Amino acid sequence: MEPRPGRLLELEATRPHMEPKASCPTAAPLVERKFHVLVGVTGSVAALKSPLLVSKLLDIPGLEVAVVTTERAKHFYSPQDIPVTLYSDADEWEMWKSRSDPVLHIDLRRWADLLLVAPLDANTLGKVASGICDNLLTCVIRAWDRSKPLLFCPAMNTAMWEHPITAQQVDQLKAFGYVEIPCVAKKLVCGDEGECLARLIAHGRRRGSALGSHLSSVPGLLRP
Ligand SMILES: Cc1cc2nc3c(=O)[nH]c(=O)nc-3n(C[C@H](O)[C@H](O)[C@H](O)COP(=O)(O)O)c2cc1C
Repeated sequence: MEPRPGRLLELEATRPHMEPKASCPTAAPLVERKFHVLVGVTGSVAALKSPLLVSKLLDIPGLEVAVVTTERAKHFYSPQDIPVTLYSDADEWEMWKSRSDPVLHIDLRRWADLLLVAPLDANTLGKVASGICDNLLTCVIRAWDRSKPLLFCPAMNTAMWEHPITAQQVDQLKAFGYVEIPCVAKKLVCGDEGECLARLIAHGRRRGSALGSHLSSVPGLLRP
């Protein structure tokens, strides 16, 4: 993907620590900061649903959304169908030329209040479980501030899902404190690879769902 000029500036302008502060308590009220959701997309066929997922998230008032994609994930959607800033590996390396330049994966982990990896494919699941960080998304995850929520939505075919390594790796991610949004349990566990995202989209706003309960803890979001 061609880097889009000015996108880092957008990120800078919305970084929590960069926000303008009122000079005194009687100054004009501060504009309430939006809750920043970073969506990580990996190379599952379920990434077909990424444009829909992002647009549904944008329907929730008070959210600002950005996307980090793997290279393989780009095979499943058109970047122009993603209605928010989209970052990929080339951006990380384009941005850094010398010591004073920003490091994108660090800026993104700082910017985001919540990381939602949806879909999480078997390859990236394995990498994250073992700490490998060889692209922008896995670097964001490796550098993630674990006091902030990280939700993941596995999506793979039944044969991959049933391999014994999968449960070990999912358990490892849970041990890191990350929250699984489980696949729909049916004869083909996620055999319909859109199922996990469909579930996320359908239930994302509901209190009691993994995403819903995180979002409902944010003041002003998911009002009844
Ligand atoms: C058409 C197609 C569909 C795929 N669907 C899935 C999938 O649903 N889940 C999965 O774990 N891998 C799937 N893969 C394999 C991943 O794309 C592959 O492991 C890739 O290296 C993942 O790279 P990434 O984790 O960097 O995105 C699919 C591959 C192809 C060609």
